[in-house]
Amino acid sequence: MKTSPPPLKVRATEGVRLHLEDGRVLIDGIASWWTSCHGYNHPHIKAAVARQLEIMPHVMFGGLTHEPAEILARRLAAILPGDLNHVFFSDSGSVAVEVAMKMALQFWLNRGDAGRTRFLAFKGGYHGDTLGAMSICDPGEGMHSAFTGLLPPQPALDLPRNPASIDVLDRFLEARGHGLAGIIVEPLVQGAGGMIFHDPETLRRIRAAADRYGLPLILDEIFTGFGRTGAMFACEAAGVVPDIMTLSKALTGGAIGLGATVASERIFDGFWSDDQAQALMHGPTFMANPLACAAANASLDLFESEPRLAQVAAIAAALEDGLAPGRKIGGVKDVRVMGAIGVLEFERLNDPKAFQKRCVEAGIWVRPFGNVVYLTPAFTIGGQELSMLTGVLMKVLST
Ligand SMILES: Cc1ncc(COP(=O)(O)O)c(C=O)c1O
Repeated sequence: MKTSPPPLKVRATEGVRLHLEDGRVLIDGIASWWTSCHGYNHPHIKAAVARQLEIMPHVMFGGLTHEPAEILARRLAAILPGDLNHVFFSDSGSVAVEVAMKMALQFWLNRGDAGRTRFLAFKGGYHGDTLGAMSICDPGEGMHSAFTGLLPPQPALDLPRNPASIDVLDRFLEARGHGLAGIIVEPLVQGAGGMIFHDPETLRRIRAAADRYGLPLILDEIFTGFGRTGAMFACEAAGVVPDIMTLSKALTGGAIGLGATVASERIFDGFWSDDQAQALMHGPTFMANPLACAAANASLDLFESEPRLAQVAAIAAALEDGLAPGRKIGGVKDVRVMGAIGVLEFERLNDPKAFQKRCVEAGIWVRPFGNVVYLTPAFTIGGQELSMLTGVLMKVLST
């Protein structure tokens, strides 16, 4: 509160625009932390939520069920790769990750193996702000590093992308694989940890390593899912199917918070028992909220009826062009694009807050972190709006 500039007050959202109370209008370059993939206030999502609001805004999801959740679970199972058929709904991304961790831990407990208490995570990863999720983020991650020693200690390795890191992973698994409950990674793009990209081969290597040791692989698609990297789910580009997948953010088209943790048949079978103690005991009060499920179903309609992935491909091409001049700007270490993600990485971004302020003055909303300035716009963004985003960034950077 003491060190941040006062937040800008938003009066309304519309398409890719934020209307501020003081009359200014900003083009949103980051789609509210990567959520509003169809743009804000999409009429189809609004209508679905309004209809649901009349019928039933909320009902508990323990011992009761409802159509919006059942339809959504079936639709997710149908579009997810492999046999990811069993959906557990929660209310946010971090909770979806907590549920995934709990699933993996209990999967082993139910088999009588109590020695598997750790998760292998990767440097650069980010999985949320609840305590379990914090423990598997990059240990040096700015928001969480102060809590090292208080959180369960989890091993974090470099992604296995060169012979040395592949060797470290192999040796680690050989020595300590028996103590792991699972491996977790964000496929192809580590988002909040620095918009770090890796190639499909690296992901396949992680899958193969998990298989060698019988370890459940958790793919956190909370950022990458629903088209952001160019495929509907990032893991599809690598032909990798996880044992557990986490989803949130664009799941509802960004309209309302909702999380989903989706398990394969193998994981589900690990809980299928006459002994009630073997059930997954988890029940966030607002899990499977009907309004959120209605929004998510409407969002999936839009993925079916509108050319979202083609729009992502067009955004990728425009980001490549629009950000390319950044390579010539002093202090820029790397410019990279994957799908609707455009990244400018600096040797050192001296004053991100001042940078952000100048962007706002020029009419765009971005929120840099670390040494990274990025664009993750709505997939419905128009060509002119996108050029304004990249143009303003280039101008602010070069003056
Ligand atoms: C990959 C990933 N996992 C988990 C989370 C946490 O989601 P939430 O902020 O909804 O708790 C985030 C949020 O940025 C994320 O990017």
